[in-house]
Amino acid sequence: MPAVVVLGAQWGDEGKGKATDQLGSRVDYVVKFNGGNNAGHTVVVGDEKYALHLLPSGILSPGCTPIIGNGVVVDLAVLFEELEGLQGRGVDTSKLLISSSAHVIPSYNRTLDKVTERFLGKRQIGTTGRGIGPTYADKMNRVGIRISDLFDEEILHDKVEGALAQKNQILTKIYNRRSADIDEVVAELRSYADRVAPMVADTGLVLNRALDEGKNVVFEAGQATMLDVDHGTYPFVTSSSATAGGAATGSGIGPTRIDRVVGVIKAYTTRVGEGPFPTELLDAVGEQLRKTGGEYGVTTGRPRRCGWYDAVVARYAGRVNGLTDLVLTKLDVLTGFEKVPVCVAYDVDGVRHDEMPIDQSAFARATPIYEELDGWWEDLSLARTWEDLPVNARRYVEALEEMSGTRISSVGVGPDREATIVRHDLLG
Ligand code: GDP
Ligand code: IMO
Ligand code: MG
Repeated sequence: MPAVVVLGAQWGDEGKGKATDQLGSRVDYVVKFNGGNNAGHTVVVGDEKYALHLLPSGILSPGCTPIIGNGVVVDLAVLFEELEGLQGRGVDTSKLLISSSAHVIPSYNRTLDKVTERFLGKRQIGTTGRGIGPTYADKMNRVGIRISDLFDEEILHDKVEGALAQKNQILTKIYNRRSADIDEVVAELRSYADRVAPMVADTGLVLNRALDEGKNVVFEAGQATMLDVDHGTYPFVTSSSATAGGAATGSGIGPTRIDRVVGVIKAYTTRVGEGPFPTELLDAVGEQLRKTGGEYGVTTGRPRRCGWYDAVVARYAGRVNGLTDLVLTKLDVLTGFEKVPVCVAYDVDGVRHDEMPIDQSAFARATPIYEELDGWWEDLSLARTWEDLPVNARRYVEALEEMSGTRISSVGVGPDREATIVRHDLLG
């Protein structure tokens, strides 16, 4: 019985939410192990469309227990807003469990996220402004506030005071902002304590026991490989471990328990925010991908930068995560091109790189070396079997599989649960 990690192989928004949701009621637990409400997953179930930010996609599958792991940073206001939104639409959210070790995002970190971005000027990252970076920084600096701190006013007060001793200096003296009031921050955080208490659990223990019993557990990543704080395009990354290793540290299971690592990857590439993106198309073709693919952020509404598939990125994701499978999404969006270019290597200052350059400034100068594949004109959205796909679409998938070095186990042809061609069962 598998423990399956589902993660992004590119720069996010690959369709991880749909991929997790598609595994459906066979999954007993879905764990979010990194990030926070910087994520935005759209899941379409019948006529209903859900946008999830903080909650794991498993919350939409009846019978599945959703878990917010210790590696997540939790904005408590967003947590309850999202829960109430789902409850209002008839979704049962009563099974949600939250790790007592997860960190919370205090209001001062949202402020700091926004002001530091402004301060960076042309070096800005283009963050989602949700306080993610400052909260992970606090965790590493050992001045973070954890869910378990909410339940003892004295301890909470002491911790907020400790954090603000430093932060208020930064807010007022560097950024010229109002200092945060300790009592106000404590009161706000405490106001959630009673409501959050019944959800708090030793989620690492729960998950280890579930795996002992042979349950199906999906570890669902937010963000993606190229946004990972270690393995991504640093500094243009998020502040958490979005790669497979993060599934273990962010949930409290050992890496030996993981059976399968699934990389979700678009049939082309998108990126939100700043940073290098070798196959980016700044022309009408990029605009066509954006329009046809509906490439606008779920969290911030920003238009996503669009470009061709990058097999160097796919191979890198394969190696960094130890991918066993790829889930290819949005193949339907590529209908209507005479030729579809795919990046097979980079040119950096006249030198060919078949693998990711080791230094970021070389990556920033990389230009793609393309191989052109034949396109197709048929609408793919109703294809449900491999044979339903036109021959050139099949050849495209097979070529990507070959270039990327990982088998493609399913192919997405539309946003609906059903709009998927399954080649290998991810839970089998
Ligand atoms: P996530 O953050 O990785 O979960 O992805 P997002 O939800 O941010 O972005 C993926 C978008 O593509 C969503 O709007 C999905 O409904 C949509 N989507 C997922 N798979 C497919 C597919 O195969 N075809 C099409 N056309 N849309 C898809
Ligand atoms: P999902 O889970 C795409 C990007 C931001 C910015 C950088 C840092 O939906 O794939 P942060 O607020 O995390 O400090 O921003 O990371 N980013 C995402 N891009 N999809 C996401 O999540 C993202 N989460 C963060 O745009 O460039
Ligand atoms: Mg998204």
